[in-house]
Amino acid sequence: MISKLTTLSAFLAIISLSAAFQISTRDNDGVAVYLNTPTDPFVKIGDNYFFVESKREINWYDAFEACRQMNADLVAFKDLKEQKLVSQYLVGKKLIDNFWTSGTDFAKQDYFVWFSTGQPVATDLWCKGEPNNAGGIEHCVEFLSNVGLGLNDRNCSLPRGYICQAPQPKTVSFIVW
Ligand SMILES: *[C@@H]1O[C@H](CO)[C@@H](O)[C@H](O)[C@H]1NC(C)=O
Repeated sequence: MISKLTTLSAFLAIISLSAAFQISTRDNDGVAVYLNTPTDPFVKIGDNYFFVESKREINWYDAFEACRQMNADLVAFKDLKEQKLVSQYLVGKKLIDNFWTSGTDFAKQDYFVWFSTGQPVATDLWCKGEPNNAGGIEHCVEFLSNVGLGLNDRNCSLPRGYICQAPQPKTVSFIVW
């Protein structure tokens, strides 16, 4: 960030030495297509950028940390449409598995929120009959891309793959006259 700002201010210093100028700025959600910038390891699905780990299965806490280490968070599906798009992606890549999401009811039993955003988990995202807190030990939310294609509450200690979601990027551009 600092180096980007330094580069920008150096550039502005140079143009300020030239003739009269006018700068107009613009910012847009997402990575502008014309930039053709690689977003690895994140892939764009719908409006957001995701990283899917299907080989390394770890508990919910480890998964949470793994996403944070990438400056991302465990996924928080914003709606059923996004959840379905991610599901299609997983099925298309033959990544049929169970993945941790950021959902938990740690704070209030039976009230599931996305721990990454604090927003409630929408009721239409769950598999049929879920969440059911089976055995009274299910406080983390997994996404089932195989059966049911939806969310399920699960024992947080179980090893699972996980899906990280990158912060929503913006493209900032400016025009100098
Ligand atoms: C949750 O899963 C872990 C890991 O498999 C297991 O050791 C633990 O007994 C489970 N918890 C309960 C209460 O079943």
